Amino acid sequence: MRSYRVFIALLLSIVASPAVAAPVDTDAIGLETSNFSPAPRSPLEKRDFANQVVFTPPSTYTSWKTIYGRSAQVADGSLLVTWEDYPLVDQTPFPIYRSTDGGVTWASYSQILDQVNGWGMRYQPHLYVLPTAFGGFAAGTVLCAGVSAPSDLSEAYIDLYASTNSGLTWKFVSHIAYGSGPELASNGDAAIWEPFFLMYGSTLICYYSDQRDPAHGQKLTYQTTTNLVSWGGAVDVVADPTYSHRPGMAIVSYLASINLYFLTFENCTSSCLATYRWSSSPYTFNSAPSTLLAPSTGSNPGNAPFHIYYKGKIYLNAAQSSSVYVNTAGTTVWTPVDVGQIESYTRCLEIIKVGGVDKLLITSAGEMSSTFNNYVSVAVVTPP
Ligand SMILES: *[C@@H]1O[C@H](CO)[C@@H](O)[C@H](O)[C@H]1NC(C)=O
Repeated sequence: MRSYRVFIALLLSIVASPAVAAPVDTDAIGLETSNFSPAPRSPLEKRDFANQVVFTPPSTYTSWKTIYGRSAQVADGSLLVTWEDYPLVDQTPFPIYRSTDGGVTWASYSQILDQVNGWGMRYQPHLYVLPTAFGGFAAGTVLCAGVSAPSDLSEAYIDLYASTNSGLTWKFVSHIAYGSGPELASNGDAAIWEPFFLMYGSTLICYYSDQRDPAHGQKLTYQTTTNLVSWGGAVDVVADPTYSHRPGMAIVSYLASINLYFLTFENCTSSCLATYRWSSSPYTFNSAPSTLLAPSTGSNPGNAPFHIYYKGKIYLNAAQSSSVYVNTAGTTVWTPVDVGQIESYTRCLEIIKVGGVDKLLITSAGEMSSTFNNYVSVAVVTPP
């Protein structure tokens, strides 16, 4: 992270350059005026649907209003969605909205307030349901990691919260990482961003984006814990030898069909491109080669990629395309599929069970643009 400066620079260069004769594809760069009005649906709708509204921010909201949607299906089958929220308050919380009917209707359920820093929960919430008992918490405990920072963005923690009642109440567990700031996206600012969890045996790994190393504008880092309270030191995940290259937004999965670990990230140079690596362990990505994502049709989907693994396939999306890219794990063929869901900055993907059937839940919370009518919405579709 945070690629929006590069992204905005890219937009400005498109707007400013007289050499660009072709009309600007506003859809591709996330500036379309969104005016979805989804048809009313009955609860427990069995058909696939997209652009179902979770939350529409009021006009008093600031910045891009909502962004960075994230989901989790919790132990009782209900769905939780959270996002970066921009209400006009000093200490922003992460909102938690909940659906008990497979994503058709949504209501405010709780919120994660900063309980320790007096700053607010500001950036990049990541929800994770413990698959097994861990660190004194039962299986099914919901974890949320995200960036806590004061409104002047002078410093930041990546903090960990936990809910033992499927998202109704939350308690601070630990600081994972500290950045002495400022929490801004320029090279040289000691900022930290975008936590993501992977369970590996009896260890929980937290990957994140890291601007604290003076040798790298930004790199990807991991830290581990076996108890959720104490965290090991920062280790490189991807550190590009060129200072100004900024790998960001790590998402990692285990590809069971080929017994390899898989990392996707944005590689930000003059623009940000979805890039990936395979490795035999989740600790050894730094020595693996990068592959640039090359879709079977169209161009690289750009910054802020997110992916999941499901039954031998990888599903990926990124910020400059509304498609979901489908790949057979181990190959380099990526086929875009249009599932009808609005394009967004880092849409979240999750396989959920609805009435015993596996569905792909896609969560959007808008683009990094103040002229985009950002709101939070979901699609629930058959995995393509
Ligand atoms: C990022 O892209 C640049 C330019 O193509 C390339 O030289 C570099 O190796 C890439 N970095 C990573 C970490 O993939």
